[in-house]
Amino acid sequence: MRQDFQAILDTIYQQVATVEDKGTVASYIPELASIDKNKFGIHLRTLDGNSYGVGDFETRFSIQSISKVLALSQAASLVGNDILKRVDVEPSGNPFNHLALLEIENGIPRNPLINSGAIVIADILISNLKNPKQDFSNYVRDLVGDDSIDFNLDVAHSEKITGFKNYAAANLLKSFNNLENSVDDVLDFYFHQCSIEMSCRQLTKAFYLFANKGASLLQKAQLTESIIKRINAIMLTCGFYDEAGEFAFEVGLPGKSGVGGGIVALLPDKFVITTWSPGLNKKGNSQLGMMALEQFTSATKLSIF
Ligand code: DON
Repeated sequence: MRQDFQAILDTIYQQVATVEDKGTVASYIPELASIDKNKFGIHLRTLDGNSYGVGDFETRFSIQSISKVLALSQAASLVGNDILKRVDVEPSGNPFNHLALLEIENGIPRNPLINSGAIVIADILISNLKNPKQDFSNYVRDLVGDDSIDFNLDVAHSEKITGFKNYAAANLLKSFNNLENSVDDVLDFYFHQCSIEMSCRQLTKAFYLFANKGASLLQKAQLTESIIKRINAIMLTCGFYDEAGEFAFEVGLPGKSGVGGGIVALLPDKFVITTWSPGLNKKGNSQLGMMALEQFTSATKLSIF
């Protein structure tokens, strides 16, 4: 039976938008603190070529940690399994910026989606790209087919002057010889990468290749099925930090969150869905986004399980 996805999204939107406890907007990056907590959008693209949106799905927001998946995919396309010499693929069970495990485990981050792991991926990209920031933003632009996608320089600067924990992580990595480039160069790249702004509609397009066996929407980028399988597995087990179990339990899809309030999730061969609501729960994941995605997979019975 064909499902009326627009009606399902409309119903979810109406129910979730009225929830009073919308969580707390991230303020540790000062530039993000002023975002309106009432913004809320959902966008869905099915692999049969249809797309559906509700609410603020065209408004651009800071994608933050969602960028880590895109950086990982670009690094995997450049150096393949060599990534695994420098980053593990185990869930951390800890917050995204946790440091203790990194020291105990001799500078090998638990996975590429926690901050320390993403900083190693940034280092790999800097070592392998000619013009790292430009080449990364072009990679993302090609995935979406939109040259207007860009860094927000104010957000990148705001994080640079307050990112003490990321400096701590990068220095620890350097002390264990797990950074080739300078701490400043790597973090400059990482803060820019996280500051990219996209709408729900654009993020859904960017993540299309993870649902489409590696072929991007406009066929401008191609990853192998083996890389896609692995990255989807990492999203499922590590995409929500110490809430990855809860997301798999409630939603049942590989996905990735960011402290800008975005979440992208996907069902291979079927669809990509993005939600945006800036208020975060205590684990740093969008409060209403988690709720909306749980309702979506329950209503449609479309999850990997
Ligand atoms: O490094 C940071 O702390 C931010 N640029 C990204 C953190 C983030 O989005 C965590 N996600 N839920």
